[in-house]
Amino acid sequence: MSVDTIQDLFEHGLENIYHAEHELLDALDELESNTEREEIAEAFAEHREETQGHIDRLEEVFDMFGEPPEKEECVGIEGLIEEYEEFTSMEPSQEVLDYHNMAAAEKTEHYEIAAYGNLIPLADQIGMDEAADLLEENLREEQGALDELKELTETYEMDAIPAE
Ligand SMILES: [Fe+2]
Ligand SMILES: [Fe+2]
Repeated sequence: MSVDTIQDLFEHGLENIYHAEHELLDALDELESNTEREEIAEAFAEHREETQGHIDRLEEVFDMFGEPPEKEECVGIEGLIEEYEEFTSMEPSQEVLDYHNMAAAEKTEHYEIAAYGNLIPLADQIGMDEAADLLEENLREEQGALDELKELTETYEMDAIPAE
């Protein structure tokens, strides 16, 4: 695919985040089952539901183009997932893993926030106002998920983890 126009750029970004959202469905499942503390595990389960909604909205956007949804490999999110797998292979204690799970999820939210933040002005530029609104809804939920994770990280009782 050649990428020469704003529309090309938009479609490229859309296919990229569409793939990322699918990867994140599985990743959030894994985070939930790897987490012992209930309020943290619940946050992952809730955001997994929202993630399914993100995929549905992206499919609506593809539909507005009159095109079937397509995925383009999102190497960025795959890298974050790989980084996570490497960490878990070091067999951290459950307390450390719970804490690290939040940190790992925060990184993916930052990625998604940047992706949607880049796509919205492109949609505006090519006159796809309704698509921009849908992407804006996804962006708001990513921001909400990040805020919740930050709050959970800040209130995590560090005493559970030895300092040295
Ligand atoms: Fe998402
Ligand atoms: Fe997200």
